[in-house]
Amino acid sequence: MNDLSPLVQEARADFERAGTPADLENAKARYLGKSGRITEHLKGLGALAADDKRSRGALINAAKQQIEAALDARRQALAQAELQAQLQGEALDVSLPGRKRGSGGGLHPISRARERIEAIFGSMGFDVADGPEIETDWYSFTALNNPENHPARSMQDTFYVDVKDASGHWLNLRPHTSPMQIRYAQAHAKKYAGQASMPDIRVIAPGRTYRVDSDATHSPMFHQVEGLWVGENVSFKDLKVMYLAFIQAFFETTELKLRFRPSYFPFTEPSAEIDIMFDGGPLEGRWLEVSGSGQVHPQVIRNMGLDPQRHIGFAFGSGIDRLAVLRYRMSDLRPFFEGDLRFLAQFN
Ligand code: PHE
Repeated sequence: MNDLSPLVQEARADFERAGTPADLENAKARYLGKSGRITEHLKGLGALAADDKRSRGALINAAKQQIEAALDARRQALAQAELQAQLQGEALDVSLPGRKRGSGGGLHPISRARERIEAIFGSMGFDVADGPEIETDWYSFTALNNPENHPARSMQDTFYVDVKDASGHWLNLRPHTSPMQIRYAQAHAKKYAGQASMPDIRVIAPGRTYRVDSDATHSPMFHQVEGLWVGENVSFKDLKVMYLAFIQAFFETTELKLRFRPSYFPFTEPSAEIDIMFDGGPLEGRWLEVSGSGQVHPQVIRNMGLDPQRHIGFAFGSGIDRLAVLRYRMSDLRPFFEGDLRFLAQFN
């Protein structure tokens, strides 16, 4: 009787050689297909005697089963290999450095200057207050002791919003951060009303301000930082000491002088402009104006809800842009607001 195990061996080797599912199906056809080798053997059964047929049939079936098992095993192996290849193709190399987008972004130089200012005053015990950029006439002018006919109230100096407040005045884009003096002090006075003593008011109010003004040293939108210190025993001396400490910290040098030049503001009396002069460097020898300042006017103290017989203090208002221009030794502040990334990226 003809032994079928070489045929089974041959089929196994054939299947092993098949490198793809398609090759494998072709190989299968050679053994199990319509005219495959196993099929031919089965067809040959018809010519045999009944006894032979039974034993020969069992033999062929056993070989057929072995071949089918080998086929199945190879199918699974090929599927497994395919999956493996796919996973490898999709693998993510987490050790690769990421791709950078643009310069990566950064803080605007004005924001940097503002953060510096907040940090310095914070270290001297000042709170930081934030308030509306669209103000009422009372907070921007009246509470600050501006007479009705003061030029600051004119359309040439202040931007107005086409909406009136409850008192019938146009709202304005705040021309300074001084309204925050009043807002903060009012809230403070209310909080301590009726108490024997009140902690000093010490606050800075940095933020955007607006004026009808535009040239190399003025932008219609600019930034100010208002400072206010009010208590029962605060003097001009404190302003001088504090402002010098601030300026030295801001410019990171003690090689500079401060000058208080008599001036006028409706909300302070006496009033002074603060000028600085560097002892070295490219700006040496020139007085540079950086701030308005003064002792808070008694009427303004009253408008805060405090008693001018008891409370006294000073205020200052400095240009953040001006300070940044000097810190970066620029001659024009407009590049700060033109949004040119070639300029702005230098600060990151
Ligand atoms: N508000 C003034 C201005 O914008 C500056 C200032 C503030 C002056 C506080 C004195 C006191 O010019």
